[in-house]
Amino acid sequence: MYACTVSPRRSVERAREWSVDSGVRRTRLWKLVAKASERIGFRRRQEGRLSLESLGLIYGTDKATHIRNGRSYCDIYEDYLRARRGRRFTLLELGVRHGVSLRMWNAYFRRASVIGLDVDPGAADRAPDFQVYVGSQDDADLLRRIADEHPSLEIVVDDASHMNPLTFASFETLFPRLPSGGLYIIEDLAPGAYGPDWPGAEAANVDGAWGTAWPGHEYGPDVSLLDNRQADIEAFRNRLAYDCDLGPWDESVSGEVAFVHVWPSLLIVGRT
Ligand SMILES: C[S@@+](CC[C@H](N)C(=O)[O-])C[C@H]1O[C@@H](n2cnc3c(N)ncnc32)[C@H](O)[C@@H]1O
Repeated sequence: MYACTVSPRRSVERAREWSVDSGVRRTRLWKLVAKASERIGFRRRQEGRLSLESLGLIYGTDKATHIRNGRSYCDIYEDYLRARRGRRFTLLELGVRHGVSLRMWNAYFRRASVIGLDVDPGAADRAPDFQVYVGSQDDADLLRRIADEHPSLEIVVDDASHMNPLTFASFETLFPRLPSGGLYIIEDLAPGAYGPDWPGAEAANVDGAWGTAWPGHEYGPDVSLLDNRQADIEAFRNRLAYDCDLGPWDESVSGEVAFVHVWPSLLIVGRT
């Protein structure tokens, strides 16, 4: 007669050990599969098929959820950026915070080099996979150094202080450094931080904390001393439009502006 040499309790223990062990093996296997697919670029290829809006939602940037007149920033950008998707160039984003938009750009532009700048030193630690310069967006020497170190710089996205004087200062330094066909994008121009004469002021004034509400502002220049007036935004846009329209004839303007597109809270400027 067949003799059972393993007690029922022992077999339960063995079964448990086996299932734990195989669970560990399965986890290890999944890790290997994930690593291999990363290595052969599987994930990157999958992401390469997604829209900027989808990638923005996946990586969690408000560029995908900030919607005015039915369109998000990502949705608008796609019209300008689609043709550059497979190209090699450098994109600089001013304002990194948690690095989620850098990850989105990196997933969208598979061959581009994505770099950032933030005044908050912690931003560089939060985006360790990217080259993040630490400094204020109005530091002209730093911006010139970035442009020198990245001669293929073609797109600048300003999502940093949202304070007019700082925003304009970055533009003055970086826009002339872009090549023909380059794009300069300024987000949230006119909103949130945000002078009391802005028409949306009532809605944007959080506990009366004008201009100091934005995380990271404490590291840069004292924004409470800066004006953030709607009139200055209009003057800035008019100057760009004048440059675009009259550049070829009026030698007092640079003639560097190919177009200036005004979207809600958003300015997209093309380089001649
Ligand atoms: C809107 S968050 C950036 C969000 C990020 N682009 C995204 O979509 O996930 C703004 C960032 O600008 C940074 N900032 C504020 N003032 C700045 C300045 N003067 N120069 C550079 N960055 C600044 C803040 O530290 C903050 O991280």
